[in-house]
Amino acid sequence: MSDAAANPLKAGLEDVVVSTSDICFIDGHKGRLLYRGFDVDDLVAQSTFEEVTYLLWYGKLPSRKELDAHVKALSSTANRKLPPKLITMLRQLPKKTTPMEVLRTGVSALSAFDPDAADNSREATLRKSIRLTAQMPTLVAAWERIRRGKPVVAPNPKLSLSGNFLYMMTGKKPTELATKTFDVALILHADHEFNASTFAARVTAATLSDVHSGVVSGIGALKGPLHGGANEQVMLMVQKIKDPAKADAWIRQALADKARIMGFGHRVYRVEDPRAKHLKRLALELGQQAGSTVNIQILDIMAGVVSAAKHIFPNVDLYSGAAYASMGISTDQFTPIFAMSRVAGWAAHILEQHGNNRLIRPRSDYTGATDAKYVPLAER
Ligand code: CMC
Repeated sequence: MSDAAANPLKAGLEDVVVSTSDICFIDGHKGRLLYRGFDVDDLVAQSTFEEVTYLLWYGKLPSRKELDAHVKALSSTANRKLPPKLITMLRQLPKKTTPMEVLRTGVSALSAFDPDAADNSREATLRKSIRLTAQMPTLVAAWERIRRGKPVVAPNPKLSLSGNFLYMMTGKKPTELATKTFDVALILHADHEFNASTFAARVTAATLSDVHSGVVSGIGALKGPLHGGANEQVMLMVQKIKDPAKADAWIRQALADKARIMGFGHRVYRVEDPRAKHLKRLALELGQQAGSTVNIQILDIMAGVVSAAKHIFPNVDLYSGAAYASMGISTDQFTPIFAMSRVAGWAAHILEQHGNNRLIRPRSDYTGATDAKYVPLAER
């Protein structure tokens, strides 16, 4: 037996504290989420995604001058555009490649073009974080256009990160409500303490690896349906149900079949995820503007049944997809959009990890054989 067997095992590291952090606080019982001490409800009401990235990375709200410089860096064409060779590379990929695979590959490739790739100083990591946050929306939108056989739309430095993303996806200037909704969605997804993808990014950073590698690790972890991939699965479920009149029976049957219902439950929250109410409100407004609230009606029926039957409550992934769908965004782009926002949190955590680093290297409680005798191949 290993020395590690003496320590109590917590499956899935549930409630295990692995580090101190100044970035994000979750109160799972009261349903509160704070970034650097600020309640996300206040940030949603008063801030922008750009300002939130500043808050996460620098640990304070910016002055007007600091914010202007930060927004300029995040919107400049130099930081938003993709290297032409990367666009050529994207065109070589099979059209069926999922947007999340493209994002994982594209972010990894971007490090090959980054002038600071080999520099892991705080200043260089901040520059790379700004570039990655500016480039990821361009990458996601470029793949949407390429796979549909449409010309890639160049970024517009006059538009906010949210407005520009929606513009690059469609080639049309988005409505104010769509831009605002998208910005709120980005604020709400920007960080969430030691979730699986952030932990993956920190583990990578703790080997003194670079921010691109940390973000690629984060994207890989986010992709799974128990984490960021849930928003896509929610919409696939809604598309299966189709009719609000069928939602109650459908969800009761799914519960009876002991199915895992995507968009519900959380490792930390014991009440409704504080992000869900904002996305629900905005999804409803967008649905009303687009002329259909069917998706929201289905989700509301599901939420009522699941909460009452299982005491498991909506999480951030339940309503985000309905909002994106009302903007005409494809279902398989929902998780890349999550990543476009969470890159802010990953970068903040990589900076914090590098600032006070110790290699993250846990143990396993070995339960395998200890006296296996090697049998030569010819005798097996
Ligand atoms: N549907 C049905 N049952 C559930 C669900 C669900 N969504 N979530 C938890 N449960 C049940 C689970 O079956 C188990 O019951 P029992 O004790 O009778 O076996 C109990 O609740 C505890 O579940 P668990 O899987 O041990 O809890 P966990 O902390 O490991 O899981 C979770 C957390 C998020 C993986 C889980 O709630 C889940 O699979 N939810 C659906 C996927 C999802 O929406 N993920 C997005 C999470 S929020 C955003 C993000 O982080 O990306």
